[in-house]
Amino acid sequence: MTTGYKMPQDFLWGGAVAAHQLEGAWNVDGKGVSIADVMLAGKNGVKRVVTDTVLPDGNYPNHRGIDFYHSFPQDFALMKELGMKAFRTSIAWTRIFPNGDEETPNEAGLAFYDNMIDTMIDNGLEPVITLSHFEMPYRLVTEYGGWRNRKMIDFFTKFARVVFERYGDRVKYWMTFNEINNQTSWMDSHPMLQNSGLKDYPAEQAQELMYQASHHELVASALATKIAHEINPNIMVGDMIAMNPVYPATSNPEDILMAQRAMQTRYYWGDVHALGEYPNWLLKFWSHKGFDIKMAPEDAKILKENTVDYVAFSYYMSWTVSATGDDYLEYDEEANHGDNPYLKQSDWGWQIDPTGVRYAMNWMWDRWHKKMMIVENGFGAYDKLTSSGEIHDQYRIDYFKGHIKSMEQAVALDGIPLIGYMPWSGIDIVSASTGEMAKRYGFIYVDLDDMGQGTGKRYKKDSFDWYQNVIATNGEVL
Ligand code: BG6
Repeated sequence: MTTGYKMPQDFLWGGAVAAHQLEGAWNVDGKGVSIADVMLAGKNGVKRVVTDTVLPDGNYPNHRGIDFYHSFPQDFALMKELGMKAFRTSIAWTRIFPNGDEETPNEAGLAFYDNMIDTMIDNGLEPVITLSHFEMPYRLVTEYGGWRNRKMIDFFTKFARVVFERYGDRVKYWMTFNEINNQTSWMDSHPMLQNSGLKDYPAEQAQELMYQASHHELVASALATKIAHEINPNIMVGDMIAMNPVYPATSNPEDILMAQRAMQTRYYWGDVHALGEYPNWLLKFWSHKGFDIKMAPEDAKILKENTVDYVAFSYYMSWTVSATGDDYLEYDEEANHGDNPYLKQSDWGWQIDPTGVRYAMNWMWDRWHKKMMIVENGFGAYDKLTSSGEIHDQYRIDYFKGHIKSMEQAVALDGIPLIGYMPWSGIDIVSASTGEMAKRYGFIYVDLDDMGQGTGKRYKKDSFDWYQNVIATNGEVL
C-alpha cells in the first residue's frame, strides 16, 4: 500500500525493548536483584507471582531474557540490516547500583553500557534510553518500601546523574519512568510493584499510596531533567506514558463526561510532566477522598521549572468507559471498562484500534504542545516457526500498516511534530505482563520457549522484510 505520506528526513525509525526483558545475565558482573528478578512466569490470563527472595527452582524468565547481554553485537547487526535508525532500551539500575543505596556505582555495569551504546552507534542506531523501566533494585522495595519513601528521590537522582555523566555525550534522547501512568490500575498489585515498588500494603490504602509514590516519582523526574540539562544542554528528557485512549461507550453525555475524567485520571502524570503543575480536579478529588499527599515546600517550584522536552508514549489499544453515577466521576480502571463493538482483540484481549493513534496524538498535542516520540507500538501474537525457518506473520504486518498510516496522517495532515517511531520490540523478548516468550512482538524471531528451552537462534520474520521496506521508503510504502 502506498500512503503518499513521507516522514521528515531525520525521522527515527527504530525498535524498542527494556533491559530486564532481554538482557538475561541477571547476576553477572555485580548486578543486583531487581523487581523483575523475583517475578515468576505467568501466562495468558495467569498473573505473575512475586516471590520474597529468588527461589532456587523457580521459573524466572527475566533471569534469562534472550541473553542479549552477550548477543547484542549480532542483534544490532541484524537491526542495521533491517535499516533501523534508532534503538530504545533501558539501563538496568541494578547493574549500576546493585542494591540501589550504595555510595559508589558498579564499574562493570557502567562498562557494559559503554560497550552496548558504542556498538549501537557503530551500527547506525541512535540510542534512546529509559532510566527506569520496571526494574528498580528489589532492596529498595524490601528495605525502604519503594516510592512511598521520599528517600527514593535521592537514590534515583544519584543513578540518573551517574548515567547522564557517563553517556550524556553519546545519548541525546532519554526518558525517566516507563509508562508511569500504568498505576492508574492501583487495584492490581502488578503495576503497583512494577511502577512504584509498592508491595505488602493494606488494600484500603493502595490508592492514596499510589498518589504519594507518584508524587515522589514526578519530583524525581523533574530533578533528573534538571541534572541532565546542567550536564549537557543538548540532552532531551521525556516522560513516558502508556497512551490508551478511553472513549465513551455511547453518545450519552454522562458517558462522555466519564470518558473525559478517565482521560484526565490516566494522563495527569503527563500534565505534571509537561505543564509543571497538578490539575485542579485532582486536588479536589484528593480532598474528597481525604488523601493527605505529602509534598515538600520546594516541590511545586521544582515541577514548574523542569518540565520535559518531549512526550514519549506507548500505544497498543484503546478502551471504552460508561458512566457510574458518581458525582466525583471516580474512574475505576478495572470495573468501568467495556468492549468496543467496533474493534477486534488480540489473543490477549487487547483491542486493536489504529485510528486511536491519530486521535491520541491530537489529544496530547492540544494539551501539552510538546514534540512526541512513539516508543512502543506492536502486536503480541503466537508465531509459528516453519520447518524451513520462516515465520509468516501477516497479522503483525496488518496491525502495523493500520497504526503507521494513522501516525503518518497525524504528522502529514495534522502537523504534529513526531521525532520517531520505535515499535515494540524489534526482536522477540520476555513479555512484561505474563513473562511468556510465546507472546511475541519482534521482527526477529528468537527460538526460545517459555521455559527457556530452544536454540536461541534468530530468524527473520516476514515482517522483517516488510518493515525494512517501510523504512527504506521513509514510510511511503506500507
Ligand atoms: C508496555 C511495557 O506495557 O508494553 C513493555 O512498557 C511491555 O515493557 C509492553 O513489554 C508489552 O506488554 P506485554 O505485557 O505484552 O509484554
